[in-house]
Amino acid sequence: MEQEREFDILLSEVKRICPFIPEGYKRSYISRRIRARMRILGIRSYGDYIAYIRKDPGEAPLLFDRLTINVTGFFRDMDVFRIIEEKVLPVIMELQEGPVRIWSAGSSDGREAYSLLLMIQNGYPGFLDSVRFIATDIDVSKLEEGKKGIYRYGQGRNISEEVPPKLLRSLSIDGNMVRIPDRLRRKVRFFKHDLLRDDPIPSQDLILCRNLLIYLPSRSQERVLKVLAGSLKKGGFLVLGKSEHLADSLMEEMELFDLQGRIFRKRLETGNFPQRSTLSREETKTDFVEG
Ligand SMILES: C[S@@+](CC[C@H](N)C(=O)[O-])C[C@H]1O[C@@H](n2cnc3c(N)ncnc32)[C@H](O)[C@@H]1O
Repeated sequence: MEQEREFDILLSEVKRICPFIPEGYKRSYISRRIRARMRILGIRSYGDYIAYIRKDPGEAPLLFDRLTINVTGFFRDMDVFRIIEEKVLPVIMELQEGPVRIWSAGSSDGREAYSLLLMIQNGYPGFLDSVRFIATDIDVSKLEEGKKGIYRYGQGRNISEEVPPKLLRSLSIDGNMVRIPDRLRRKVRFFKHDLLRDDPIPSQDLILCRNLLIYLPSRSQERVLKVLAGSLKKGGFLVLGKSEHLADSLMEEMELFDLQGRIFRKRLETGNFPQRSTLSREETKTDFVEG
């Protein structure tokens, strides 16, 4: 079909101009995001959009921004943070031998990372010094925002709706501007890492990778999950969050730790474990779609 052929040509243009592997994502997701961009420009056909992209180099960052959905917030899915605080961190602390490595993968602007650090600072202050935190994404502009640690609220959004009252005290709030204190900001190392392209980052005790896998077809999900599992220490934890599913092929390496938070733990030993996840597709089906 002509439209499909043009769409394939468009995808190779996207690949040429953006730091993004379009075929790694669900085709329906990519076409929805591209069409949203075309609507803004009043462009109706893929062919016309290809011509536009080729003519205007300024389109690349705007299209990339559409393709990477960066929606995030402090303490997104509070229940998951509670489970980490009450069930995961105590185990990590008990087994701790040296620095504790935590990775927020697909972190967007870093609010996920800072939420966890605020929680640790408040709940386990003595533990904070040993934490080494990394936050990665493919979107460098969001990583830059994370490095600055300054977030603007207002326009219907209120910081006190995201951050629990006792933790609000740790932030400096000036009008609609929220600033992360230097002590926490300096703890996070932000850098670009593409989960579809780059290698594992070894020796992690805890990895959060939430609200990203839903945009990927199963072959890409498996790739990402292998990178994450390969980055964990034995006994380390992987937090996928409520809308994600762990590929069955990884259950030899990982076991379910908490169903509600979709938290998995890398087995201390690998061996004769059942191949199937204890979660069925029906239990874990995507119930959350952005964009
Ligand atoms: C919806 S945000 C989720 C942010 C945060 N984890 C949360 O749950 O609030 C998804 C993020 O994944 C990033 N992303 C998409 N593809 C990626 C990839 N291949 N490698 C790393 N990050 C990716 C996007 O740029 C975006 O910032």
